[in-house]
Amino acid sequence: MVDTERRATLIVLACALLACSGAFAQETIKIGLILPLTGPFTPTGRQIEAGVRLYVQQHGDTVAGRKIQLIVKDDGNVADMTKRIAQELIANDKVAILAGFGLTPLALAVAPLSAQAKVPQIVMGAATSIVTERSPYIARTGMVAPALTVGVAEWAPRNGIKKVVTLVSDYAPGVDIEKAFIEQFTRAGGEVIAQLRVPLANPDFAPFLQRARDAAPDAVFVFVPAGQGSILMKQFSERGMDKSGIKLIGTGDMTDDDILNGIGDVALGIVTSHHYSAAHPSAMNKNYVAAFKKANPGMRPNFMAMGGYDGMHLIYEALKKTKGATDGDALIAAMKGLAWESPRGPISIDPETRDIVQNIYVRRVERMDGELYNIEFATVQAVKDPVKAAAKK
Ligand code: PHB
Repeated sequence: MVDTERRATLIVLACALLACSGAFAQETIKIGLILPLTGPFTPTGRQIEAGVRLYVQQHGDTVAGRKIQLIVKDDGNVADMTKRIAQELIANDKVAILAGFGLTPLALAVAPLSAQAKVPQIVMGAATSIVTERSPYIARTGMVAPALTVGVAEWAPRNGIKKVVTLVSDYAPGVDIEKAFIEQFTRAGGEVIAQLRVPLANPDFAPFLQRARDAAPDAVFVFVPAGQGSILMKQFSERGMDKSGIKLIGTGDMTDDDILNGIGDVALGIVTSHHYSAAHPSAMNKNYVAAFKKANPGMRPNFMAMGGYDGMHLIYEALKKTKGATDGDALIAAMKGLAWESPRGPISIDPETRDIVQNIYVRRVERMDGELYNIEFATVQAVKDPVKAAAKK
């Protein structure tokens, strides 16, 4: 080879190498975000998406030198769709991470795929205890249903509520919550005199509320998924139950910040326990709520948005630890045990269960600055999933 030829070959080789390493550095990490963005649970999907996007807006779209690309898909709250979309995202788009999952059936539909393909599945909404056990690549940043009841179950008997009718949505998280509440409330000296379960789809609460009223309890304990609380409270007041002396208590899913303001005075005084309130009194939360409202005019962040926001934090921090590597085993290992300060308070990912550990607050609906809020007045610190904790014993 003459000198010029050799030089030319070297230049070509060097260019190829550079292009290649450049491509590696710039190779995007794709995150598939699957949410109900049509159908009855659209508000849940919109909240989670808004939380995810706010996190990216505040922290940039590059982590550990690699660009993050969100691929947002609507499953319409149909589990078969969630599964099909997840399959396509894994096989065609080659996503590194799946995230979203507003309801339990949607998260469960994807768990076998996550396990098989070794793709981390970040569950931001679905709350049934078993969800995290269905794939070793699942981590949860929203909430665990049976952990939500502990605050109100202990508060109620100390505050004149001894006899309760439970009314829960008839699917997995409702069953978890019913069981957890009955255990905790009974242990604290209360008595459950009737248990009612309402269909999840298009619920008409009126006949169930009538039965609850006939049982003459001190309170009705309610779990309905995000978004359904307004119909329930409307029907509660239409029957005059708020004036009959029967109190409403429940998990904070009922007094969801997204809809609370539209419910009106019937919501005043309702006591619930939950992990997030838009009125959580920390500077970090005040800034978060202000930034969320600025980015999403007309919306107030609820607990679903919080699961989305912290889900992105979990992904970003794990990617920093793996230095941008997206191997499923490395990522899930990096997620275990991560702890941080969230707008909701201190949270961590249990290294054994990959579930969220967080404070549960007892709150009362009050009017503040002309708006209805869940005002926190007591805290149960660092609550773990009680179902998994009991199974370990
Ligand atoms: C669930 O399907 O796991 C779920 C959805 C919404 C909630 C709570 C639980 O508010």
